[in-house]
Amino acid sequence: MKMKRTVGAETLDDLAETDPAAQRSRRDMRRLHRAMGTRTILLRALRKLAAARQDAAPLRVLELGAGDGSLMLGVARALAPAWPRVELTLLDRQALVDRATLQSYAEAGWTAVAEVRDVLEWASGTTDSLVKGGVMVRWDVIVANLFLHHFEGAQLAALLGAIDARTEQFFACEPRRAWLALAGSHLVGAIGANAVTREDAVLSVRAGFRGNELTALWPAHGVGWHVHEYSAGLFSHCFCARRLGAN
Ligand SMILES: C[S@@+](CC[C@H](N)C(=O)[O-])C[C@H]1O[C@@H](n2cnc3c(N)ncnc32)[C@H](O)[C@@H]1O
Repeated sequence: MKMKRTVGAETLDDLAETDPAAQRSRRDMRRLHRAMGTRTILLRALRKLAAARQDAAPLRVLELGAGDGSLMLGVARALAPAWPRVELTLLDRQALVDRATLQSYAEAGWTAVAEVRDVLEWASGTTDSLVKGGVMVRWDVIVANLFLHHFEGAQLAALLGAIDARTEQFFACEPRRAWLALAGSHLVGAIGANAVTREDAVLSVRAGFRGNELTALWPAHGVGWHVHEYSAGLFSHCFCARRLGAN
Protein backbone atom coordinates (compact mmCIF):
# COMPACT_ATOMS: atom_id res chain seq x y z
CA MET A 1 0.00 0.00 0.00
CA LYS A 2 1.37 3.44 -0.97
CA MET A 3 1.87 6.07 1.71
CA LYS A 4 0.11 9.35 0.90
CA ARG A 5 2.39 12.40 1.03
CA THR A 6 1.61 14.68 3.99
CA VAL A 7 3.61 17.78 4.82
CA GLY A 8 3.50 18.77 8.50
CA ALA A 9 5.26 21.65 10.26
CA GLU A 10 8.55 20.36 11.68
CA THR A 11 9.35 21.32 15.27
CA LEU A 12 12.93 22.35 14.51
CA ASP A 13 11.74 24.97 12.01
CA ASP A 14 9.88 26.82 14.77
CA LEU A 15 12.73 26.83 17.29
CA ALA A 16 15.21 29.68 17.61
CA GLU A 17 18.81 29.03 16.51
CA THR A 18 19.96 29.29 20.13
CA ASP A 19 17.33 26.98 21.63
CA PRO A 20 19.25 24.10 23.27
CA ALA A 21 16.75 21.55 21.92
CA ALA A 22 17.31 22.89 18.38
CA GLN A 23 21.09 22.82 18.79
CA ARG A 24 20.93 19.25 20.03
CA SER A 25 18.63 18.27 17.13
CA ARG A 26 21.10 19.71 14.61
CA ARG A 27 23.83 17.60 16.19
CA ASP A 28 21.49 14.59 15.89
CA MET A 29 21.11 15.40 12.20
CA ARG A 30 24.86 14.98 11.69
CA ARG A 31 24.64 11.51 13.21
CA LEU A 32 21.62 10.72 11.08
CA HIS A 33 23.50 11.77 7.96
CA ARG A 34 26.25 9.33 8.91
CA ALA A 35 23.68 6.55 9.41
CA MET A 36 21.95 7.41 6.12
CA GLY A 37 25.19 7.73 4.14
CA THR A 38 24.12 11.18 2.89
CA ARG A 39 27.65 12.46 2.27
CA THR A 40 28.49 9.46 0.08
CA ILE A 41 25.22 9.84 -1.84
CA LEU A 42 25.97 13.53 -2.43
CA LEU A 43 29.56 12.90 -3.43
CA ARG A 44 28.58 10.29 -5.97
CA ALA A 45 26.01 12.58 -7.59
CA LEU A 46 28.15 15.71 -7.57
CA ARG A 47 31.17 13.92 -9.02
CA LYS A 48 29.01 12.84 -11.96
CA LEU A 49 27.65 16.34 -12.48
CA ALA A 50 31.13 17.83 -12.39
CA ALA A 51 32.63 15.20 -14.68
CA ALA A 52 30.73 16.66 -17.62
CA ARG A 53 31.98 20.20 -16.98
CA GLN A 54 34.71 21.67 -19.17
CA ASP A 55 34.70 25.28 -18.00
CA ALA A 56 37.85 26.27 -16.04
CA ALA A 57 36.10 29.12 -14.17
CA PRO A 58 35.29 28.61 -10.48
CA LEU A 59 32.27 26.43 -9.91
CA ARG A 60 29.41 28.42 -8.38
CA VAL A 61 27.39 26.24 -6.03
CA LEU A 62 24.29 27.22 -4.03
CA GLU A 63 22.93 25.04 -1.25
CA LEU A 64 19.31 25.73 -0.31
CA GLY A 65 18.29 25.08 3.32
CA ALA A 66 21.94 24.44 4.13
CA GLY A 67 21.51 24.34 7.92
CA ASP A 68 24.85 24.73 9.71
CA GLY A 69 26.80 23.90 6.54
CA SER A 70 28.43 20.84 8.10
CA LEU A 71 27.14 18.31 5.58
CA MET A 72 28.55 20.24 2.62
CA LEU A 73 31.81 20.75 4.50
CA GLY A 74 32.36 16.99 4.47
CA VAL A 75 31.62 17.05 0.74
CA ALA A 76 34.02 19.97 0.23
CA ARG A 77 36.85 18.14 1.97
CA ALA A 78 36.36 15.09 -0.21
CA LEU A 79 35.83 16.98 -3.48
CA ALA A 80 38.44 19.70 -3.05
CA PRO A 81 41.22 17.85 -4.91
CA ALA A 82 38.96 17.44 -7.97
CA TRP A 83 37.07 20.72 -7.67
CA PRO A 84 39.71 23.10 -6.37
CA ARG A 85 37.92 26.36 -7.16
CA VAL A 86 34.43 26.47 -5.74
CA GLU A 87 32.41 29.48 -4.65
CA LEU A 88 29.74 28.13 -2.34
CA THR A 89 26.71 30.00 -0.99
CA LEU A 90 24.93 28.42 1.98
CA LEU A 91 21.36 29.76 2.08
CA ASP A 92 19.14 29.19 5.10
CA ARG A 93 16.53 31.32 6.80
CA GLN A 94 18.34 30.88 10.11
CA ALA A 95 21.86 32.11 10.85
CA LEU A 96 23.43 28.73 11.56
CA VAL A 97 26.81 28.80 9.82
CA ASP A 98 29.52 29.88 12.25
CA ARG A 99 32.92 31.41 11.50
CA ALA A 100 34.77 28.21 12.29
CA THR A 101 32.79 26.40 9.59
CA LEU A 102 33.54 29.10 7.01
CA GLN A 103 37.20 28.90 8.01
CA SER A 104 37.13 25.11 7.55
CA TYR A 105 35.78 25.63 4.01
CA ALA A 106 38.64 28.02 3.34
CA GLU A 107 41.12 25.41 4.59
CA ALA A 108 39.57 22.93 2.14
CA GLY A 109 40.16 25.51 -0.60
CA TRP A 110 36.54 26.55 -1.12
CA THR A 111 35.19 30.07 -0.73
CA ALA A 112 31.98 29.83 1.31
CA VAL A 113 29.50 32.53 2.30
CA ALA A 114 26.33 32.22 4.34
CA GLU A 115 23.15 33.92 3.11
CA VAL A 116 20.37 34.23 5.69
CA ARG A 117 17.21 34.35 3.66
CA ASP A 118 13.86 32.61 3.23
CA VAL A 119 14.02 30.45 0.14
CA LEU A 120 10.54 31.47 -0.96
CA GLU A 121 11.65 35.08 -0.95
CA TRP A 122 14.71 34.02 -2.97
CA ALA A 123 12.43 32.16 -5.37
CA SER A 124 9.96 34.99 -5.83
CA GLY A 125 12.45 37.84 -6.05
CA THR A 126 14.71 39.01 -8.79
CA THR A 127 17.60 39.48 -6.39
CA ASP A 128 20.11 36.71 -6.42
CA SER A 129 23.79 37.01 -5.64
CA LEU A 130 24.38 35.96 -9.22
CA VAL A 131 22.62 38.97 -10.73
CA LYS A 132 25.44 40.90 -12.39
CA GLY A 133 24.68 44.25 -14.05
CA GLY A 134 20.95 43.44 -14.03
CA VAL A 135 21.54 40.12 -15.78
CA MET A 136 20.95 36.81 -14.04
CA VAL A 137 23.96 34.53 -14.34
CA ARG A 138 23.02 30.94 -13.63
CA TRP A 139 24.48 28.89 -10.79
CA ASP A 140 26.55 25.94 -11.97
CA VAL A 141 24.97 23.68 -9.37
CA ILE A 142 22.14 24.08 -6.86
CA VAL A 143 21.94 21.46 -4.12
CA ALA A 144 19.19 20.70 -1.58
CA ASN A 145 19.48 18.15 1.22
CA LEU A 146 16.52 17.18 3.36
CA PHE A 147 14.92 20.40 2.24
CA LEU A 148 12.36 20.13 -0.60
CA HIS A 149 10.13 17.94 1.55
CA HIS A 150 9.25 21.02 3.65
CA PHE A 151 7.16 22.28 0.72
CA GLU A 152 4.12 21.29 -1.28
CA GLY A 153 1.65 22.68 -3.79
CA ALA A 154 2.22 26.20 -5.11
CA GLN A 155 5.26 26.79 -2.90
CA LEU A 156 7.05 23.68 -4.13
CA ALA A 157 6.15 24.56 -7.73
CA ALA A 158 7.49 28.11 -7.28
CA LEU A 159 10.68 26.80 -5.71
CA LEU A 160 11.33 24.26 -8.47
CA GLY A 161 10.50 26.92 -11.07
CA ALA A 162 13.10 29.28 -9.62
CA ILE A 163 15.70 26.51 -9.46
CA ASP A 164 14.95 25.57 -13.07
CA ALA A 165 15.48 29.18 -14.17
CA ARG A 166 18.64 29.78 -12.16
CA THR A 167 20.91 26.79 -12.49
CA GLU A 168 22.64 24.53 -14.98
CA GLN A 169 22.43 21.52 -12.68
CA PHE A 170 20.36 20.56 -9.67
CA PHE A 171 20.67 17.78 -7.15
CA ALA A 172 18.31 17.01 -4.27
CA CYS A 173 18.60 14.30 -1.63
CA GLU A 174 15.35 13.89 0.30
CA PRO A 175 13.72 11.40 2.65
CA ARG A 176 12.25 8.41 0.82
CA ARG A 177 8.54 8.03 1.55
CA ALA A 178 8.53 4.29 2.13
CA TRP A 179 7.59 1.88 4.90
CA LEU A 180 11.21 0.90 5.65
CA ALA A 181 12.22 4.55 6.01
CA LEU A 182 9.18 5.18 8.19
CA ALA A 183 10.16 2.25 10.45
CA GLY A 184 13.72 3.66 10.61
CA SER A 185 12.40 7.12 11.48
CA HIS A 186 10.64 5.65 14.52
CA LEU A 187 13.95 4.22 15.70
CA VAL A 188 16.14 7.33 15.64
CA GLY A 189 15.93 7.40 19.45
CA ALA A 190 18.31 4.41 19.33
CA ILE A 191 21.14 6.72 18.25
CA GLY A 192 20.30 9.06 21.11
CA ALA A 193 18.17 11.55 19.12
CA ASN A 194 16.17 14.02 21.18
CA ALA A 195 12.39 14.52 21.13
CA VAL A 196 12.58 17.18 18.38
CA THR A 197 14.56 14.91 16.07
CA ARG A 198 12.39 11.88 16.86
CA GLU A 199 9.23 13.77 15.93
CA ASP A 200 10.69 15.51 12.86
CA ALA A 201 12.20 12.30 11.48
CA VAL A 202 8.75 10.73 11.19
CA LEU A 203 7.23 13.92 9.71
CA SER A 204 10.10 14.10 7.19
CA VAL A 205 9.50 10.59 5.88
CA ARG A 206 5.76 11.22 5.54
CA ALA A 207 6.59 14.39 3.57
CA GLY A 208 9.29 12.68 1.51
CA PHE A 209 9.22 11.62 -2.11
CA ARG A 210 9.12 8.41 -4.11
CA GLY A 211 8.97 7.12 -7.69
CA ASN A 212 9.11 9.93 -10.22
CA GLU A 213 7.26 12.52 -8.18
CA LEU A 214 9.90 15.23 -8.47
CA THR A 215 10.30 14.63 -12.21
CA ALA A 216 6.55 15.15 -12.59
CA LEU A 217 6.81 18.40 -10.65
CA TRP A 218 9.90 19.66 -12.51
CA PRO A 219 8.89 22.50 -14.85
CA ALA A 220 7.72 21.36 -18.29
CA HIS A 221 8.32 17.78 -17.08
CA GLY A 222 12.01 18.16 -17.78
CA VAL A 223 11.92 19.29 -21.41
CA GLY A 224 15.37 20.77 -22.07
CA TRP A 225 16.85 18.79 -19.16
CA HIS A 226 18.32 15.39 -18.54
CA VAL A 227 16.58 14.24 -15.35
CA HIS A 228 17.14 11.18 -13.21
CA GLU A 229 15.21 10.24 -10.07
CA TYR A 230 16.26 7.29 -7.95
CA SER A 231 16.40 5.64 -4.53
CA ALA A 232 19.72 5.82 -2.71
CA GLY A 233 20.78 3.83 0.35
CA LEU A 234 17.99 2.61 2.60
CA PHE A 235 16.28 5.90 3.33
CA SER A 236 16.98 8.49 0.65
CA HIS A 237 15.32 9.59 -2.56
CA CYS A 238 17.33 11.62 -5.06
CA PHE A 239 16.56 13.88 -8.00
CA CYS A 240 19.22 15.02 -10.41
CA ALA A 241 18.69 17.45 -13.30
CA ARG A 242 21.22 18.63 -15.87
CA ARG A 243 20.33 21.28 -18.42
CA LEU A 244 20.90 19.94 -21.93
CA GLY A 245 23.87 21.70 -23.42
CA ALA A 246 25.27 22.71 -19.99
CA ASN A 247 29.05 22.63 -19.96
C1 LIG B 1 16.17 19.31 7.84
S1 LIG B 1 17.20 20.73 7.86
C2 LIG B 1 18.46 20.22 6.68
C3 LIG B 1 19.75 20.97 6.86
C4 LIG B 1 20.88 20.53 5.91
N1 LIG B 1 20.52 20.68 4.53
C5 LIG B 1 21.25 19.10 6.19
O1 LIG B 1 20.89 18.20 5.40
O2 LIG B 1 21.89 18.86 7.22
C6 LIG B 1 16.25 21.87 6.89
C7 LIG B 1 16.82 23.28 6.88
O3 LIG B 1 15.97 24.07 6.05
C8 LIG B 1 15.85 25.36 6.64
N2 LIG B 1 14.58 25.95 6.13
C9 LIG B 1 13.33 25.51 6.36
N3 LIG B 1 12.44 26.30 5.70
C10 LIG B 1 13.18 27.24 5.05
C11 LIG B 1 12.84 28.33 4.21
N4 LIG B 1 11.57 28.62 3.91
N5 LIG B 1 13.85 29.08 3.68
C12 LIG B 1 15.15 28.80 3.97
N6 LIG B 1 15.52 27.79 4.79
C13 LIG B 1 14.55 27.02 5.32
C14 LIG B 1 15.86 25.12 8.12
O4 LIG B 1 16.26 26.29 8.83
C15 LIG B 1 16.87 23.97 8.23
O5 LIG B 1 18.17 24.44 8.47
